[in-house]
Amino acid sequence: MPPLSRRQFAAVTAAGLVGLAHARTQAFHRALEQTGLKEVFKDDFLIGTAVDGRTVDDPSTPLAQLVAREFNAITPTNMMKWGPLEPREGEWQWAGPDRLVAFGAAHGMTVVGHTLVWHSQTPRWLFVDEQDAPVSKERLLKRIETRIQALVGRYQGRVAIWDVVNEAIDEDEKGWRQSRFLTIAGPEFVERAFRAAHEADPKATLLYNDYNEHNPGRRRFLVDVIRDYKRRGVPIHGVGFQGHVGLDYPDLAEYEKSLQAIAAEGLQVHVTELDVDVLPRASGYTGAEISTNFELSEKLNPWKTGLPPEIDEKLTARYRQLFELFLKYRETIARVSTWGTFDGESWKNNFPVRGRTNYPLLFDRELKPKAAYAALVALKHPTAR
Ligand code: XIL
Repeated sequence: MPPLSRRQFAAVTAAGLVGLAHARTQAFHRALEQTGLKEVFKDDFLIGTAVDGRTVDDPSTPLAQLVAREFNAITPTNMMKWGPLEPREGEWQWAGPDRLVAFGAAHGMTVVGHTLVWHSQTPRWLFVDEQDAPVSKERLLKRIETRIQALVGRYQGRVAIWDVVNEAIDEDEKGWRQSRFLTIAGPEFVERAFRAAHEADPKATLLYNDYNEHNPGRRRFLVDVIRDYKRRGVPIHGVGFQGHVGLDYPDLAEYEKSLQAIAAEGLQVHVTELDVDVLPRASGYTGAEISTNFELSEKLNPWKTGLPPEIDEKLTARYRQLFELFLKYRETIARVSTWGTFDGESWKNNFPVRGRTNYPLLFDRELKPKAAYAALVALKHPTAR
């Protein structure tokens, strides 16, 4: 073969380099298919998801395999809530939670317990006595402690993180939510829950979990509570930011202030229930209009057959911004969990309006990673696109 001219040599070399880069990218994507997001963010925070009972019933389904590959933390969506777990006093439905904890252990995941005390999804018997009269404060506190001893105790050493109290701050941001826990037992129920959880598993990480922490009123109240608890030795280790956000809310500058405020108190932040609602906001309409006006429902559910590319781009950009912020606070943020794995299973298809088609998560209805997923990988591997 005659020697190559300089030009020919340069062309062959360039082609070889492109080929090499391409092969590298392919190898990278093949590796990613084995290891998932948990590997991408392994130096930053845990990456989790929330699963329904049926997802862990059969570990051979594509969804179970996807969850095992992508995530190193799992939270049950409903199985450990008070109503589903103990529908009648003392009748515990352990089968589902046991399977979840075993699934987590089998895949080396951090299992998150959700949630010990919450005003929603409570059983009918909880706030009344045998005569159907309101229970006394003492009895309600006892019921809280009994539940926590049983549940946290059963999974001691296997559930590493607990959402101890969920959504206990009032909507008006001026104090505790007016739940039946509060009206019967007073604010003491919150700290009693933390103390009981700590006693049942002294090594578990205990979180207070809520939404809208970016709100300055909520931030102030929360910081006051944390300081008070620290002073009096109430065991609280972190704050869960649910992270049910939209394309244009909340203002991430306010969100960042709340991350800073929690970090300044020396507590961890866990992003516990991240999803990005892409649908038009229902709050501008009255409830009656939503249920009665067909045209309005159409307006509220515009993308039944697929998300337009320009909205998907907004979703991708939003996920990128959120994770840029999380990475900036990687010293404070211990975990980022999405609330569900793929769009088809998201609670956002039914909240706050039932029966819509929403696109809030990182995997689509066919379990394929979305553009947002690729954008998150690219944050850590800018050349691997
Ligand atoms: C949701 C579940 O995903 C749904 O299946 C259920 O019908 C209602 O609750 N904040 C929380 C979660 O802390 O427990 C909620 O989960 C979503 C809002």
